[in-house]
Amino acid sequence: DKVQASATLHADQPGDTVSRYLFGQFAEHLGYGIYGGIWVGEDSKIPNTRGYRNDVLAALKQLQVPVVRWPGGCFADEYYWRDGIGPREKRRVKINTHWGGVEEPNSFGTHEFMDFAELLGTDAYVSGNTGSGSPREMAEWVEYMTYEKGSSLAEERRANGRDKPWKVPFFGIGNELWGCGGNMTPEHAANLHRQYQTFVKVPAGQQVTKVAAGANSDDYNWTDVMMKIAGKHMDALSVHYYTVPGGWPPRASSFEFDEAGWIQTLESALKVDELLRRHIEVMDRYDPENKVALYLDEWGTWYAAYPGTNPGFLQQQNTLRDALVASIHFDVMSRYAHRVKMANIAQMVNVLQAMILTEDAKMVLTPTYHAFEMYKPWQDATYLPLELKAPQYRHGDTSIPGVHGSAVRAKDGHVYVALSNFDPNRTTTVSTRLSGVQATRVSGRVLTAGAITAHNTFEQPELVKPATFYGATVSGGTLQVELPAKSLVVLRLE
Ligand code: AHR
Repeated sequence: DKVQASATLHADQPGDTVSRYLFGQFAEHLGYGIYGGIWVGEDSKIPNTRGYRNDVLAALKQLQVPVVRWPGGCFADEYYWRDGIGPREKRRVKINTHWGGVEEPNSFGTHEFMDFAELLGTDAYVSGNTGSGSPREMAEWVEYMTYEKGSSLAEERRANGRDKPWKVPFFGIGNELWGCGGNMTPEHAANLHRQYQTFVKVPAGQQVTKVAAGANSDDYNWTDVMMKIAGKHMDALSVHYYTVPGGWPPRASSFEFDEAGWIQTLESALKVDELLRRHIEVMDRYDPENKVALYLDEWGTWYAAYPGTNPGFLQQQNTLRDALVASIHFDVMSRYAHRVKMANIAQMVNVLQAMILTEDAKMVLTPTYHAFEMYKPWQDATYLPLELKAPQYRHGDTSIPGVHGSAVRAKDGHVYVALSNFDPNRTTTVSTRLSGVQATRVSGRVLTAGAITAHNTFEQPELVKPATFYGATVSGGTLQVELPAKSLVVLRLE
């Protein structure tokens, strides 16, 4: 019982560059996202480099992480950067009131984050505090980080051990100002944006992309007001969209679900398409010249907290289903690459839809990690339209397209095609007519598993991982793929 689908790959109609920043990450002071997950300190028994876990660092390096957003999230609008500089033993301890009410030792601060970014070879996206901080604090933080010498702040940084200034290519003016960032109206937030961003200045020769705090999922009015009042004072506007099966507050299990939970989650993830399209339509009205980019700087699945964990720590499992949620986002964002120029999955380690889970010295890579790894050729590639005609996959009252995908011409010159089969029970034969590309060979990898709930654990860390794919052939201008049930396949044409 196989499903038949067809497609046309228009390699002769190349589109925009798919920014590598679409594959960005987000690391917040939340649960074990930073403490325990990235940072264990130099004195830890867990093997580390200057306090950063070696295992996590090595795994992240494999992903070529282009950018990391820090320190929040909601934490950003409660963060005072001065608490996190200077000798670690003297730093102020505060309560992380938003996330679990636990002690925040501030041992991971500006120097630790920037050093981490350098070790990882990634760009820094620092989120400033608009909700409870002053424009002066924001200005001084930027000066501390980016000015070479001469000013007292630059000298203070140098006394704290960092001689050279850092680059801060991306700076966020607050986060979720409609909610945890200050419960503002869009009009108030837009005016504050204009004010705060005025004082974010980097030295001549450096560039900083100023990111305005954006809408909560489908709040198109937020985008409208922001663009109307503050559109001329920003380089990018953000939007946050979480896949929350069953709706808010999150209550679905991350690892115990049936086919209804499977399809509901994928359906919810697919909404990102309409969401981006409609936010872009609003931006197009105010900014037809496409000067302001749209950043999906928080996205991912949000389920009920893992049983027995602090609900404020947002720990959850990560299954094959999450890998497909990721592939959906990559495909959709590639299609909107002319406007969508950054995305940051929430979050990197141990929080929400994480790449990596750790427990003490143990570490495991999630299916989402593998999806990011398989899509590496998309980073800075050229978008190629892939027109898919696939029958709907139905379960109960829900119906979604059975197959999803995207294609690019990567920097290595080769064409890559990603195909996801959402049907958990049936193979789908996808027959793709290749237009504008001569290919005689195809190779690829597949991510799938025996069960829709399959996930990696510390005991079984390799249950879900990519394997060589033998189900594709190419001849006479047609790519023929036997797409296994519940799978993601990434192919390379030669
Ligand atoms: O990623 C978790 C939280 O979700 C972030 O702190 C916040 O911005 C969003 O509500």
